[in-house]
Amino acid sequence: MSQSTIESILQEQRLFSPPPELAEQAHIKSFAEYEQLYAKAKADPAAFWAELAEQELDWFEPWHTVLDWQPPFAKWFVGGKLNITYNCLDRHLKTWRRNKAALIWEGEPGDSRTLTYAQLHREVCQAANVLKQLGVTKGDRVGIYMPMVPEAAIAMLACARIGAPHTVVFGGFSAEALKDRLNDAQAKLVITADGGFRKDKTIPLKAAVDQALTNDGAPSVQNVLVVQRTKEAISMQTGRDHWWHDLLAEASADCPPEPMDSEDMLFILYTSGTTGRPKGVVHTTAGYNLYTHMTCKWAFDLKDTDVYWCTADVGWITGHSYIVYGPLSNGATSLMYEGVPRPSNPGCFWDVVEKYGVNIFYTAPTAIRAFIKLGNEYPQARDLSSLRILGTVGEPINPEAWIWYQQVIGGSKCPIVDTWWQTETGGFMITPLAGATPTKPGSATRPFPGILADVVDLEGNPVADNEGGYLVIRHPWPSMMRTVYGDDERFRHTYWEHLPPRNGQYIYFAGDGARRDQDGYFWIMGRVDDVINVSGHRLGTMEIESALVSHPAVAEAAVVGRPDDLKGEDIFAFVTLENTQSPSEDLKAELKQHVVNEIGVIARPGEIRFAEALPKTRSGKIIRRFLRNLASGEELVGDASTMEDQSVLEKLRQGF
Ligand code: WTA
Repeated sequence: MSQSTIESILQEQRLFSPPPELAEQAHIKSFAEYEQLYAKAKADPAAFWAELAEQELDWFEPWHTVLDWQPPFAKWFVGGKLNITYNCLDRHLKTWRRNKAALIWEGEPGDSRTLTYAQLHREVCQAANVLKQLGVTKGDRVGIYMPMVPEAAIAMLACARIGAPHTVVFGGFSAEALKDRLNDAQAKLVITADGGFRKDKTIPLKAAVDQALTNDGAPSVQNVLVVQRTKEAISMQTGRDHWWHDLLAEASADCPPEPMDSEDMLFILYTSGTTGRPKGVVHTTAGYNLYTHMTCKWAFDLKDTDVYWCTADVGWITGHSYIVYGPLSNGATSLMYEGVPRPSNPGCFWDVVEKYGVNIFYTAPTAIRAFIKLGNEYPQARDLSSLRILGTVGEPINPEAWIWYQQVIGGSKCPIVDTWWQTETGGFMITPLAGATPTKPGSATRPFPGILADVVDLEGNPVADNEGGYLVIRHPWPSMMRTVYGDDERFRHTYWEHLPPRNGQYIYFAGDGARRDQDGYFWIMGRVDDVINVSGHRLGTMEIESALVSHPAVAEAAVVGRPDDLKGEDIFAFVTLENTQSPSEDLKAELKQHVVNEIGVIARPGEIRFAEALPKTRSGKIIRRFLRNLASGEELVGDASTMEDQSVLEKLRQGF
């Protein structure tokens, strides 16, 4: 965050109460009611979740133990059997929702499609049967690399239907990144599309899959299922590649949901961390189902009459929890949009809101800041009066953007639901409940009932009100990640031993800095580790460094985040070259493209600086703090006396 953002957040005092008309009709109607729920959950978390699990989900068999906590490994609803697709689909078919819109899809360029619950159920069952026919059985992992089309959601649900954990890889990742993830997950099959539309261009997804699989790149993959989207020419390898529409046309629509154990794996989703390799975050069935269901219902006050739109991509956790599973479990109408705002279509979001009468709208601060820049005329040219609740996620929102969102998009009548959470947490952790929680611009407000959030120092001691510290969670919650796929030690070490456990008490280390104010409101200050957040996309600096040094011209690289008014942070890379190489603008461009090839377009460095040497300690560790200061144009803070060679810093500074 830039200094000016931090200052404006520190001075923020405004308080906005939920509109009385909204509160009266809400699931949770007042702050007092929230506080009661919070106190009840805190007194006996297991009983609190058990009651909700019984009320809100359908089970094939009841559980015998609500929580089995062997720190840091949790099991929820042990012994229970269910299938999340039964909760997302079948149970609604028995009600009037049968013919209600489950998914509304607005595609590029101008296509659209609506699937009722009955239609979605049918396609999910057919797709599930196709997976079975291609040899996928319970427990097999399936990669999904898709554009934002209904088939992406159908593919996820089809996997869940038969108990095959999916691992969705965002379509903006490169073939290399896809390959790594398919290998780590040992995926048996990949579901993709010929291509996708993005920003007036098409993205050749199938070609990327081909590239990932060339030369036995991902030997576990036996079959590729291809959805036709762009209709561009692609190559189909006989025996391995199959058209989705061909196989679905022949498939039976009868596919009973596989009875899953509460703790059976639902999906793996890769995310960036401090160390180089992205980690496979594992989520399981029952706890995830319950928690995404409850958070979606209470925080967004989701009603049967709502058209709900989350603008995320299904390749991220936000798409998993709040486009697919959370809304569908509630029987809601979830809107999927294939487009992204771009200069040629600056009003596209507002067109969609008007066209479908969207009631709940959920997006990222980066998008909001981009809209502010585009000007008020675009939202003002559309009828946005259907909106009743606005949400934000992914990065801290600066108070200016919050107020603009509230006034210009929300017409000063919509609560702003700023949701803090992570891939690892599965669902919202700190968030207002739309009808209950008074909001402060820039604060994610209070923890969800059942979430014991705290701010602590490096020893794990709580810090005083308004003092900064590390954000932690003190008690397991149903949708917490269960492990890093194939690496329990990394899970333990990264999240639970970063702050040493005391008296047998393990606390979850989120990796974010935060402050809690005198009212118990949380203010998230951004990552405290080597993770950077570019336009709400989470990237590890080490991943980008590894990508850079894999280029033959590069000797060493250090990547830091630089505050950016639009993207939140931008990627700034310091690079030293091999002796044989000389710096040039062409080489900079080549290196940027190299990172795009290695990771994906979201990781393209905003700036590369060539340096003769990088500042290091005597033991050879790069001192990133100084690089961050330099990149942000700040004074160098901290002690330079531990540096091996003081002149390095001077030379670097001269370049700025
Ligand atoms: C950041 C996205 C401030 C935070 C759901 C977190 C936020 C990381 C907020 C997780 C918010 C997410 N306010 N920061 N409302 N929401 N973050 O795993 O740094 O892609 O640790 O999950 O995004 O990113 P991830």
